[in-house]
Amino acid sequence: MYKIKTYNKISVKGLNRFDRAKYEVASDINSPDGYILRSHKLHDEALPESVKAVARAGAGTNNVPVADYTKKGVVVFNAPGANANAVKELVLTGMLLSSRGIIRGMNWSNSLTDMTDAGEMSKLMEKQKSQFAGSELMGKTLGVVGLGAIGSMVAETALALGMNVIGYDPALSVEAAWRLPSQVARAENLQALLSRSDFMTLHVPAIDATHHLINEETLKSVKPGAVLLNFAREAIVDADAVVKSLDAKHLGMYICDFPEPVLLNREDVYATPHIGASTAEAEENCAIMVADQLMDYLENGNIKNS
Ligand code: MLT
Repeated sequence: MYKIKTYNKISVKGLNRFDRAKYEVASDINSPDGYILRSHKLHDEALPESVKAVARAGAGTNNVPVADYTKKGVVVFNAPGANANAVKELVLTGMLLSSRGIIRGMNWSNSLTDMTDAGEMSKLMEKQKSQFAGSELMGKTLGVVGLGAIGSMVAETALALGMNVIGYDPALSVEAAWRLPSQVARAENLQALLSRSDFMTLHVPAIDATHHLINEETLKSVKPGAVLLNFAREAIVDADAVVKSLDAKHLGMYICDFPEPVLLNREDVYATPHIGASTAEAEENCAIMVADQLMDYLENGNIKNS
């Protein structure tokens, strides 16, 4: 009998992949053969010797001490691409929210609660609505930093919306490069991408090389008024530098999935609480992918997508 310890709420469809005749799966298991988890942080926890594999039901593996575990012979699996569509849809939402007067317009409508006369309300609306006019995405340029599973999906969707797309990814694999639509222009470096983009979206992992990739210096290359989107990881962007650039009216808006204190209560920042991959479908896809990987490894020694 294999024993799998679960952390966090794992999608039922993922858990149901485990054949209960062969697997015991629960949150309170001693001497587990493997872990399956989402955002639970393992860095400060002792690793039982019985653990052979860790399955992270998501794309990033920052909550797992991968290098330490690898040295100990523990295989770490993740689910690249399994939540890409969910993140892509939120990036698209961010671009639309930043270019149309949706949030300000809704706040304005909700401020009319004391008004009871529909005719008066309609007159007021006609007078005021020009302040919520926006602009269209079609014809604008999106810069995509990182062209892996998520970045390439975002690029394809942006092309379908009639946007121009520029990509930059110094670590692009040959396979990923082949999969990219030919209309994605390639920037020679980050600065070139930033200087040509109306919207810039980040899809790189949080590693030493990407720490504060967007900082005071790189922000100088940004087109005035451009919108920066970060649905990847908080550490990739220096939030203080972003605030400085916003205050100087250089960067136009920052749309991100990380509500850092300096970013709160600003009209030029929309910050969500790391919900990029929080859809029922993505949670299910990730759980299924890593459950299959975990079983294939424990039973057959196969390592896929780790
Ligand atoms: C991921 O790494 O898959 C996403 O950022 C969502 C998450 O942390 O679960």
